[in-house]
Amino acid sequence: MNFGLNEKVSVITGGARGIGLADAFALGSEGSTIILIDIDDTAAKEAVKQLKINNISAHYYQADTADESQVLKVAKQIEEDHDHCDVLVNNSGIGVKPAYLLRDMPLSAWERMIDVHLKSTFLWSRAMIPLMEKNNFGRIINMSSMNFTGGGRPGVSHYSSAKAAIAGLTQTLAKEVGNLGITVNAIAPGYVSTELIAQFTPEMMQVLTKQNPVGRTCMPEEVAALVTFLCSNQAAFINGELICMDGGRRDFYWGN
Ligand SMILES: NC(=O)c1ccc[n+]([C@@H]2O[C@H](COP(=O)([O-])OP(=O)(O)OC[C@H]3O[C@@H](n4cnc5c(N)ncnc54)[C@H](O)[C@@H]3O)[C@@H](O)[C@H]2O)c1
Repeated sequence: MNFGLNEKVSVITGGARGIGLADAFALGSEGSTIILIDIDDTAAKEAVKQLKINNISAHYYQADTADESQVLKVAKQIEEDHDHCDVLVNNSGIGVKPAYLLRDMPLSAWERMIDVHLKSTFLWSRAMIPLMEKNNFGRIINMSSMNFTGGGRPGVSHYSSAKAAIAGLTQTLAKEVGNLGITVNAIAPGYVSTELIAQFTPEMMQVLTKQNPVGRTCMPEEVAALVTFLCSNQAAFINGELICMDGGRRDFYWGN
């Protein structure tokens, strides 16, 4: 199937590893130019190297995705270097270790979690929509989580709140920009095998795979396949959706 992504320009935040890098390979394999945004210089440079080895046109700009001045500076540079943007994957994220019950949570932990996930989604969407308007085409994909759709386990209220807000932002923004040829959708994955969940003990991994109807964690490439479809011409009428990709687990029971 031709997804119509050839020569499109795709910006992926947190693209140096994990789901973001899998998205880069998937969209790049369809002919899209890839622009990675990440805070981790070493990992991002290595990612670009790997993408280029696979004949994918790849570029990298370093930024903290939650810092407004850095986002605006990089967005200006993207416009100068690439003229426009077709795809934005708001993917940058941080894990929940250490977890805090809400009553013990430092404000700094709450704010950083909300900023890296939600504020960055706002900042990057605001910066890229004018670059999408240039060609009356845009696809924005936001990363929510089963930690919202399932309510989150105790200790991660900051993470599940950020992911819930991302779902709300997605629905509203979809209504604001649909008439510009831009769609906005969110994905709510269950556990995906990346460094983000490498913090879990083997015992926790055993429990959470046992609790999943499919009996395993999701692979980043599976999320990337959905991202690719949502970015395609064929998905032009899918707008404002939150798509669960959790093996059917949905609810969040953190016991045996
Ligand atoms: N892995 C999972 O189980 C899972 C499940 C549901 C949702 N998600 C979400 O998917 C997204 C990607 O997760 P992942 O598992 O690939 O994580 P990951 O840790 O493998 O990759 C995250 C990337 O984001 C970058 N990053 C972090 N903070 C940044 C910042 N302030 N500015 C720029 N870059 C920053 C990191 O350097 C890293 O390259 C996240 O939003 C995460 O919350 C992950």
